[in-house]
Amino acid sequence: MTRTFDPTRQPEADFSLVQRQLSQGYDGHFLLVDSAVLHEKVRRFKEAMPRVHPHFAVKCNPDPGILAELYKAGAGFEIASPAELALCQAMGVPAAEVYYSNPMRAREAVEVAAKAGLQWFVIDSVSEMRKIVALKPDASFYLRLHTSNEGSVNPLSEKFGVFEEEVADMVREAVRLGADLAGATFHAGSQCLNPDNWRTGIEAAVQAFAQMRAAGLKPRLLNLGGGFPVEYASPVPTIKDIGLVINEALRAVPDEVRVMAEPGRYLVSDSTYLVCRVIGTTVRRGHPWAYLDAGLYNGLLETTTGITFNMASSRQGELVPWTIAGPTCDSLDICNRSQPLPHNLQEGDFIYVHNVGAYSNACSGHFNGFDLPKIMVV
Ligand SMILES: Cc1ncc(COP(=O)(O)O)c(C=O)c1O
Repeated sequence: MTRTFDPTRQPEADFSLVQRQLSQGYDGHFLLVDSAVLHEKVRRFKEAMPRVHPHFAVKCNPDPGILAELYKAGAGFEIASPAELALCQAMGVPAAEVYYSNPMRAREAVEVAAKAGLQWFVIDSVSEMRKIVALKPDASFYLRLHTSNEGSVNPLSEKFGVFEEEVADMVREAVRLGADLAGATFHAGSQCLNPDNWRTGIEAAVQAFAQMRAAGLKPRLLNLGGGFPVEYASPVPTIKDIGLVINEALRAVPDEVRVMAEPGRYLVSDSTYLVCRVIGTTVRRGHPWAYLDAGLYNGLLETTTGITFNMASSRQGELVPWTIAGPTCDSLDICNRSQPLPHNLQEGDFIYVHNVGAYSNACSGHFNGFDLPKIMVV
């Protein structure tokens, strides 16, 4: 049965699915993924930007059940490693349709990808271009450009990207090697609240394309990266708002250029509840603390990167600010220092954390011997 969503609001995971799951008992923290939301997010993305093909960033959530739903909904994929490529292949996605968007790879990783038939590799250095050409002379390349990340919650411009003045060197080397340098990409920064970053990124790509064409290369791929935001505790630009900026900027991009993007967070975050439980409470210097059976290492890593999740509990009561900590002995494992929750919260109460589909299970570990979150896709 297809669910209808209010088009004026962010789609929300259906809480009755959580209740149904809990009615069967509780065996430790888990992620409950509402697949209808995954489909709705792919639909909204395409509706807002009809020219832009979404290729989900597998790193954001590599759960096979989630990937399968996104594939059914019409998304493609972008990978950072051979393990992620294998996940795509296991679903029957042809490797030639998968994009390798991690700009630095081990030689062995390139060999695995080339053998599988992957065609498109991102690069942002002459050395990586040479490495890949030596292993796969007919590879096609897209250039990661360094562009503005201003106004994004998690900037990603520190580690990768060629600066404007370095594009000429990359083009010259591609011509010298006979390499198919045929595209450009950038990343606006994750949870990007500034639609202008996509406009300036597209403008930078258009300039890079002109340099490629002048050197006899044939640009035909524009990859708008990820960064599309979701609403956590405060409002964000909608996908429609961002689409308007992008669609306008794309008017300068010729029709023969395929346009794609690599949304991660936008496609999966809202679909998922983290359900966990209070394992103990205390008061420290007059301030209440609650310790949960899940923390940074079990699904809530993003609380360390500026994301504030909404949390609700199974108990009713006047809301007061709590410090919320995970179950490990690590002082880093503190998720929020002023989370509104009922004053009478107690051991055993359930905590429902909204919008935890992105970088949750993907960034979890067994630190201190605690479990990874289980995932249920319904
Ligand atoms: C190359 C690349 N593409 C896409 C993404 C997805 O970004 P987001 O989840 O912000 O959409 C990332 C995230 O780190 C990335 O590194």
